[in-house]
Amino acid sequence: MDDIKELKVRNYYDSFSDNYDNFYHKIQFQKFGYLNDILTKFNHNDLIDLGGGTGLLSSFLQIKLLTLDLSYNMLKEGKLSSYISQGIVGDINNIPIRNKAFTHIVSFTAVQNTSNYKQSFKEIRRISKKQSENVVSVLKKLIDKTMLINISDKYFSDYQFIEFPIEDIGIYNNSIST
Ligand SMILES: C[S@@+](CC[C@H](N)C(=O)[O-])C[C@H]1O[C@@H](n2cnc3c(N)ncnc32)[C@H](O)[C@@H]1O
Repeated sequence: MDDIKELKVRNYYDSFSDNYDNFYHKIQFQKFGYLNDILTKFNHNDLIDLGGGTGLLSSFLQIKLLTLDLSYNMLKEGKLSSYISQGIVGDINNIPIRNKAFTHIVSFTAVQNTSNYKQSFKEIRRISKKQSENVVSVLKKLIDKTMLINISDKYFSDYQFIEFPIEDIGIYNNSIST
């Protein structure tokens, strides 16, 4: 992680970590709730939450999840709240995980913060098992539908576009069903 954007993002979330849940708990829960049926049926022992921050998704599902984030303080906040099972400090654009490691990769409202969106999707694809089910959401004010579809087409063959009721657009990739 040497990009200036990543440094700025990390510093921002490091300094905001103790207030993050107060500000964003409700809004993120609305997004998770919109995909409740999908998220609850995932195998949570074979899942990683990328850019998972304080572990709000773990809190929503009431299951501790493996969570990667750029910000140590965000992960620490999640640990203190006992949301996260294991936190990995790392960059979505250079995930310190072997190829084809997980069946489920989820990422909510994080990829728009990275310096190279294509690289994020490439990394998600790289660590996905051949038959995988992934959910990725991004802030639509920073990545529009056309851009998201262009990138997704490059890395996923079978996915649905998702328009969240609030803030985000995303994709649900399901190569298990094919
Ligand atoms: C808006 S928060 C979303 C957190 C969490 N997914 C949620 O739903 O509450 C964005 C998170 O993405 C993390 N993040 C941003 N860029 C990242 C990157 N390149 N690699 C890993 N995490 C990143 C930030 O540190 C922050 O915790």
